[in-house]
Amino acid sequence: MADLSLMEKIVSLAKRRGFVFPGSEIYGGLAGTYDYGPFGVALRDNIVRSWKEYFVQSQENVYEVDSSLILSGDVWKASGHADGFIDPMVKDLETGQNYRADHLLEEAGINPSGMSDQDIEEAIKKNNIKSPDGNELGGVSHFYLMLPTQIGAADESAHKTYLRPETAQGIFVNFKNIIDSIHPKLPFGIAQVGKAFRNEITPRNFLFRVREFEQMELEYFTYPEQAKEDFETWKNTIAAWLKEIGLNMNKVHEYETPSEDLSHYSDRTVDFQFDFPFGRSELYGLANRTSYDLKKHSEESGVALEYLDPETNMKVLPYVIEPSVGVGRVFLALLLSAYTEDELGGETRVLLKLPAKIAPVKAMVSPLLKNKPELVEKAREVRKELQKVHPAIAWDDNGNIGKRYRRQDEIGTPFCITIDFDTLGETPELKDTVTLRHRDTGEQERLTIEDVKKRIIDALA
Ligand code: GAP
Repeated sequence: MADLSLMEKIVSLAKRRGFVFPGSEIYGGLAGTYDYGPFGVALRDNIVRSWKEYFVQSQENVYEVDSSLILSGDVWKASGHADGFIDPMVKDLETGQNYRADHLLEEAGINPSGMSDQDIEEAIKKNNIKSPDGNELGGVSHFYLMLPTQIGAADESAHKTYLRPETAQGIFVNFKNIIDSIHPKLPFGIAQVGKAFRNEITPRNFLFRVREFEQMELEYFTYPEQAKEDFETWKNTIAAWLKEIGLNMNKVHEYETPSEDLSHYSDRTVDFQFDFPFGRSELYGLANRTSYDLKKHSEESGVALEYLDPETNMKVLPYVIEPSVGVGRVFLALLLSAYTEDELGGETRVLLKLPAKIAPVKAMVSPLLKNKPELVEKAREVRKELQKVHPAIAWDDNGNIGKRYRRQDEIGTPFCITIDFDTLGETPELKDTVTLRHRDTGEQERLTIEDVKKRIIDALA
């Protein structure tokens, strides 16, 4: 059973606690766009940092680029996106609202795999499928997913192109630059993290399907005969990373995409799906893009995009294995994995059980009373000391201590540290000790500041 109320709770928490806000909200909102607030930025940055550590920095031969968001229109002709990046769309004949035809079939329990436009139309008629408002639907048309833009003067001389719908093409157009400047040995990877734009017909399910999102992509160039083996290696790396950042792995499933559903460039695709409250859906894609893109760009640009093997002196047109994921989908899956309701002190509470490494705030320091300058001064001193371990140590003196704890629980802060009169030496044997409260259990212990530091270091290890 889909637990849509969980989704509502996540959306509400995200807004209430400054993670994610609806885009352009004061003007009534702009569908399919979201803005990240302070804790959202911190959580997103931690996801990206972890991805780079795993997929770039700890690899022997992976290099990162940051290409322009706007690429020449020729790139999109060569890649096949200009003509082929389309979704089947149907119109509600009463309201004029457009819908993804394949999604309506799926919702009616019909698998749209491999269906032509005509097949979809027939399935809609035969099964008497109506729009979500219960109205008749029109015929299937093509909806172009890329957002067009133009560079320069607004006349015929303007260069027409699109906001990039994937970061991958910014990697392919830099393949030769990396070879000429870095001289990597095949196999090697080029990674990119950055924004992508898609004019989704029906953006929905919070961060899951949006019109502007961030991708983390790796194009791993390899010998054609080694591609199958490398595919398996990256499959394992993806699974290990999803576990490492704290996803509920019982909800992660591998899905072999049937050949009739493969993208125009893919020879094999395995999706890592996640059990979202609205159903099991794609989280992370892994594709074998073969030599499709390098070949196309070589043909269209006239620039040879080959690798000269120094051992054999032969030219190789590499195959490409591509792990590709949207940061927002990982962000959402993480919130869903971490969201917990329990009972503490006879009251229901909400907490995010995020791993310390990924949590936006590592610890919160607080003076027991904010109107006692000596407590405040000591607490500031302690915070500064703990920031030697990690800068993301928050300050919170708002409301009573119970309220502060609850607020930090909802943000996912693993530790809360309270400075009281004993810290100042009211009970001499407790001087320079503090209270450390654990998020997941609510338990508290009395520790020296040095021991608190050790606890934080251990949690981040
Ligand atoms: N370069 C390959 C590529 O872009 P994709 O399956 O279209 O393949 C890769 O997208 C990943 O990007 C998806 O697995 C998903 O995590 C994310 N993604 C795609 N469309 C998205 C959207 N509209 N909103 C949020 N994330 C999206």
